[in-house]
Amino acid sequence: MPRRGKAGFISACSGLCYKASFLTQTEKRNVPNDTTKPTAPMSRQFPATRMRRMRRDAFSRRLMRETQLTTDNLIFPMFIVEGSGQRQSIASMPDIHRFSLDELLKEVAEIVDLGIPAIALFPSPDPASKSLDGREAWNPDGLVQRAVRALKQAFPDLGIITDVALDPYTTHGQDGIIDAEGYVLNDVTVDALIRQALSHAEAGADIVAPSDMMDGRIGAIRAALEDAGHIHTRILAYSAKYASSYYGPFRDAVGSSASLGKGNKHTYQMDVANSDEALHEVALDLAEGADMVMVKPGMPYLDIVRRVKDEFGAPTFVYQVSGEYAMHMAAARNGWLDESAVALESLLCIRRAGADAILTYFAKKVAVLLRQ
Ligand code: PBG
Repeated sequence: MPRRGKAGFISACSGLCYKASFLTQTEKRNVPNDTTKPTAPMSRQFPATRMRRMRRDAFSRRLMRETQLTTDNLIFPMFIVEGSGQRQSIASMPDIHRFSLDELLKEVAEIVDLGIPAIALFPSPDPASKSLDGREAWNPDGLVQRAVRALKQAFPDLGIITDVALDPYTTHGQDGIIDAEGYVLNDVTVDALIRQALSHAEAGADIVAPSDMMDGRIGAIRAALEDAGHIHTRILAYSAKYASSYYGPFRDAVGSSASLGKGNKHTYQMDVANSDEALHEVALDLAEGADMVMVKPGMPYLDIVRRVKDEFGAPTFVYQVSGEYAMHMAAARNGWLDESAVALESLLCIRRAGADAILTYFAKKVAVLLRQ
């Protein structure tokens, strides 16, 4: 029996549809003619319902706010170079720098002080160290390995994430080892990635993050870590990483754009048109032993984030990539957008889509804003 309210509004909703809204995703899929869809909202009528009532005052807006962004959600990607006294700026990434290790320690002290839980390291190695197979990637005394050791000693509680992929180290700028035609070989590359990941874990990295998109690399790296006794090393899998054009400024920052030239990564990174395929990638990585999965880039891919979070309920991270940062900063520097407001909005919206944590070049700026 429909109930009639004071303002003459009819509630068609029996107890059932409220109950249905508590069903899990899997249960929902098993409900024929999904009763959870818009039944409840559609039964509301004006003027019994005035949606603006709850928006009228800050206190009620605060009370019904569904999503929060805090410093706990932020991971700061940082670029490192050899040498000392280096704090190099990057033209396409205003306010972001490449740090030599001495300067890195000073900068990270501020990051720790701001309460950011983790940083992700990306090397821009000496061009002379690049090779066809990128072997510098697993040099135990390489730039990343030295940085990890120095950081863990100075800031033992800060989470250190390292990038597992060969692109900064290869003369061709691909993430893996290539054959005579330039095709990136899967299984040979996985063997190299294992060595790289082990060298990071040995240096003390808390989280290794394979960003290369080879098949089977999560399982292979997990098995190697277990064998070597690194049972606590977490794996953040770049699971749904797309062959995106938003990585340009990053490639300038690590110095791989020149090596890559007119090359592209379409034979291993995902086709930007696909969504179902992302779920298969995530399912495989979780089955192979990933602790966290990632969707990358962020803003144009929030539909993927929502699907991944709903389907698996695993820790789901998003990379707000260099191109997204560059767009926001370019508009802000032109006076076209309010930098702080759009930085906060972009990150809150990524959270709303289902992200637990976000790798973002805005991390330091936003941590400062959130502290105020
Ligand atoms: C490389 C890697 C890339 C990024 C993170 N790791 C670039 C690429 O795949 O070419 C992009 C990050 C960004 O754009 O901020 N393995």
